[in-house]
Amino acid sequence: MDPVPSMEAVTIRPAGLDDAPAIAAIHVAAWLETYAGLLPAAMIAALTVEMRLAAWTRILGDPASGTTVAVAEGPAGLVGFGSCGAQRSAELAADGFDGEVSAIYVLRAAQRRGTGSALMAALAAHLRQSGHRAASLWVLHDNVSARQFYERLGGSVVGERAERREQATLMEVAYGWRDLAALQRSPVSG
Ligand SMILES: CC(C)(COP(=O)(O)OP(=O)(O)OC[C@H]1O[C@@H](n2cnc3c(N)ncnc32)[C@H](O)[C@@H]1OP(=O)(O)O)[C@@H](O)C(=O)NCCC(=O)NCCS
Repeated sequence: MDPVPSMEAVTIRPAGLDDAPAIAAIHVAAWLETYAGLLPAAMIAALTVEMRLAAWTRILGDPASGTTVAVAEGPAGLVGFGSCGAQRSAELAADGFDGEVSAIYVLRAAQRRGTGSALMAALAAHLRQSGHRAASLWVLHDNVSARQFYERLGGSVVGERAERREQATLMEVAYGWRDLAALQRSPVSG
């Protein structure tokens, strides 16, 4: 993945193991900012920096993890990240979506400046380079702003599911892009 310049001196680059602490911190901060009111409080509280640090350290430290992570770096440090890999849903794979975006988070203070679009373009480029043609992702049905973002990038709803978790059943929809080349070309200027 080649570094891609984004808006306002934010650069998109591949993540390394040293980025794990900042990625874990952004993951938890973005969860708090995004999901208060959308998810049960107990579920939000259950996501700790320690847990996320362990998970991202494992992923970034294992070249065979199958997950690629891109980070968005500004002058004061990381402001967002995204991850992708092979499709995990057999149903969506059968529908042609061989790749999957597994996470994308930009801190609220850094949103609406093109960083999310640049991250999606970088993930699309990586998926294409690793032989994928299409990709999808899961988003909470009620996460309206993220859904508007995916729609702005040309995604369309290609699936839905009720995901049972310990504290709640989550209603989610899948957005898909059948042409990763188009997604790679589509950064939106902020
Ligand atoms: C979704 C997310 C990654 C978008 O990142 P971003 O850096 O703000 O995205 P961009 O600046 O590239 O936005 C591109 C376009 O998407 C649309 N968009 C983005 N955020 C939007 C919002 N909150 N409401 C409506 N449209 C939005 C707009 O059309 C925007 O262009 P504009 O700013 O010129 O109007 C970011 O808001 C985020 O991390 N949200 C919290 C975590 C989350 O929900 N992640 C997804 C989990 S599945």
